[in-house]
Amino acid sequence: MSTLHQRLPDLPAPDASQRAHMARLEALIAGEIERERFLPFQRFMQLALYAPGLGYYAAGATKLGAAGDFVTAPELSPLFGAALARQVAAIMTAECNTVVELGAGSGRLAAGLLAELARLDRLPGRYCIIELSADLRARQQALLRHALPTLCERVQWLERMPDAIRGIVLANEVLDAVPVALVRTAGADVLELGVVAGCGGDAFAWSARPARGELAAAARELDLPDGYTTEIHLLARALVRTIGAALSHGALLVIDYGFPRREYYHPQRAGGTLMCHYRHHSHADPLALVGLQDITSHLDFSALAQAALDSGMTLLGYATQAHFLINCGLLELLAALDPNDVHRYAPACAAVQTLVGPAEMGELFKVIAFGRGIDRPLLGFRSGNRAGML
Ligand SMILES: C[S@@+](CC[C@H](N)C(=O)[O-])C[C@H]1O[C@@H](n2cnc3c(N)ncnc32)[C@H](O)[C@@H]1O
Repeated sequence: MSTLHQRLPDLPAPDASQRAHMARLEALIAGEIERERFLPFQRFMQLALYAPGLGYYAAGATKLGAAGDFVTAPELSPLFGAALARQVAAIMTAECNTVVELGAGSGRLAAGLLAELARLDRLPGRYCIIELSADLRARQQALLRHALPTLCERVQWLERMPDAIRGIVLANEVLDAVPVALVRTAGADVLELGVVAGCGGDAFAWSARPARGELAAAARELDLPDGYTTEIHLLARALVRTIGAALSHGALLVIDYGFPRREYYHPQRAGGTLMCHYRHHSHADPLALVGLQDITSHLDFSALAQAALDSGMTLLGYATQAHFLINCGLLELLAALDPNDVHRYAPACAAVQTLVGPAEMGELFKVIAFGRGIDRPLLGFRSGNRAGML
């Protein structure tokens, strides 16, 4: 810890049991490094976040909300899920009425969505959650049993994407937690960054080797300046293609932070967007606090759009979160609350400000939608559709 605290002096120190947990995960990763010599960063991130029982999302600590490491939109207010429910209800038909939520976190989005869909009398035939983390699955089940005792039986947890979905697939802040590959340009070469054994008290250190195959090809397409380090989202693109293949009729809605390609790989963003979150502190060292911190990157929405088109889906819209939520009626949902009920109304106003404020989540977060067999314009993109920027 001493080396870590010289590098990242402002982070709260983990306690003894967290340090022991970190040591177990470091040992697992070190074992893989010993066998392979060089661990591509994408594999390191996979283990740091999802190693069974040890990775950040796979172990038992609270991640989301005030008591955790970061706050997502559904944690801020049920109005987020209620606004999204309006879009889901507008897409659903009698034959297209399954909702599949990827990476449901604490379960609050499912709770907010289902409550609003029930209120609108538009409950889906099935609500399925695909969650990689057994610990989060248990937390989602407990929350939904408590919050929606009469509806929770409609919710099913699936191990993998169903073969033929007729309905809506939702991913809120999921793709930013999908492991990324890291590349660095060096003259005419593209290097892949990876992790090797560290020294002097650090478990791990950075290393690089020539990028190969799909990664090298994807990086070369970007025409990056010399000395540029950035992420390439091969797994997120593959996930979009998998969803595209499974979606026989309906839409995929991705809500997350990121940019279109031109903005993402701007010469001034020469260090990439990788970020780590630990107890509401953000920093950029993914080799620290292994298993105790979230590791995320922004999304390249142009790459996701290309992957979706490759899998036969069409682009239905791309807008800022602010535009999307306002188009879906977020402000009307707020206005329907009783201002005299101060304990409910004041936090709801603050949450709406965070969700749509341009300096908060409103502009950085985007909503992108892809579809198959959907030919009518979507409610959320009625104004402010920026699909042309991709
Ligand atoms: C940052 S949390 C967001 C949770 C929740 N959607 C929210 O908005 O509060 C990321 C979630 O994505 C899940 N996840 C990551 N990759 C996934 C994948 N390929 N399939 C399903 N879930 C995934 C994680 O286990 C975790 O629940």
